Amino acid sequence: MTLIKGAVPYGEGDPVDILIEDGLVAEIGTPEADGGDVIDARGLVVLPGFVDLHTHLREPGREDTETIETGSAAAALGGYTAVFAMANTDPVADNPVIVEHVWRRGREVGLVDVHPIGAVTVGLKGERLAELGAMARSDANVRIFSDDGLCVADPLIMRRALEYSKGLDVLIAQHAEEPRLTVGAQAHEGATAARLGLAGWPAAAEESIVARDCLLAGHVGARLHVCHVSTAGTADVLRWAKQRGTQVSAEVTPHHLLLDDDRLNTYDPVNKVNPPLRTSSDAMALREALADGVIDCVATDHAPHAPQDKDCEWSAARPGMLGLQTALSVVIQTMVRPGLLDWRGVAGVMSERPAEIAGLPDHGRPIAVGEPANLVLVDPKATWTVNAARLASLAGNTPYEGMELPGVIKATMLRGKLTARDGQAVR
Ligand code: DOR
Ligand code: ZN
Repeated sequence: MTLIKGAVPYGEGDPVDILIEDGLVAEIGTPEADGGDVIDARGLVVLPGFVDLHTHLREPGREDTETIETGSAAAALGGYTAVFAMANTDPVADNPVIVEHVWRRGREVGLVDVHPIGAVTVGLKGERLAELGAMARSDANVRIFSDDGLCVADPLIMRRALEYSKGLDVLIAQHAEEPRLTVGAQAHEGATAARLGLAGWPAAAEESIVARDCLLAGHVGARLHVCHVSTAGTADVLRWAKQRGTQVSAEVTPHHLLLDDDRLNTYDPVNKVNPPLRTSSDAMALREALADGVIDCVATDHAPHAPQDKDCEWSAARPGMLGLQTALSVVIQTMVRPGLLDWRGVAGVMSERPAEIAGLPDHGRPIAVGEPANLVLVDPKATWTVNAARLASLAGNTPYEGMELPGVIKATMLRGKLTARDGQAVR
């Protein structure tokens, strides 16, 4: 039994006490509790635990950069109660054995619900469909499939994947990047890349695939999810597709909301990510699109990398940035502070919508009696300074090093059990 005392649900109205029993919210109001754990939550906002549709956990294969255990700790500390682990591991999660391993290990660690994403194609090669049905029916119960890191570029393979997904009632998540337009690409194609002498990654390489896939999804009557939207033009395509009734959802990363390609001037590969940081006007358009629902949710694309893969020349560096422990703070900075979202809106884009998109029945639920106690307590007034060495991830590639960010996560709770408290994961 745990009593959360004095928290404000969704940052609206008066503080309440929330009694947690048997993993559920048992009472809201002023419950009489004797015994059990009491959490002093005065001044804190309570939200449903966050759901990340896009996390790279690196296990199996690159346990030197992140494991399911360290990534789960980072997730709990970031306020997450469920994460979806991308399939671009080594070996690739393109069969039931690997997805079941990831799922089991996530359960053993127990800090966050780890849902493996299955690959769309065998070995992420884009040539043959993986055994989507076998992964969906496995113990891991795979609900999302993606070749993320790579695009399912062949339109016929994408069409077939969408057709199968419909029958299996699963979701295809596309990393939208027309590979013929991004050969050797190192940075957003624009003035900054031209000045720095970096080969360009044109916005149209993303937008053309998103348009194509919206048309394909509409044609076969399947759902489609678009990973890490990075350009204003993609938001326009999504707006158009949604208006004509396409079943498409989309995510944006915190880094595409906050950062832009001005940061490339130092040539520090910590800023290298795929899709690349775009222009500041793209970032502003993405904020607007998230605020008005054209983009459904925030997903981290948490991508840990070893020092030798980041502390090197730009062209040799791997793309990707840490994101789990900084996501909420960046959302507060870019969305809440400018008045684009209130706390209820934050709950929508970080918990309710992603849970709905993934079909998770017990996350992203209202804070109400009888609901699972998957909760996060946030100090909205406090700030913190990012220090890579103190993050739970094994890797240190955060682009926010040394930045002071708003919003401190005081506690995270998964089915009534504390998973993070005062900056420590609780095992
Ligand atoms: O920056 C990225 N890193 N983008 C991706 O699509 C893949 C990811 C990774 O796996 O490192
Ligand atoms: Zn990707």
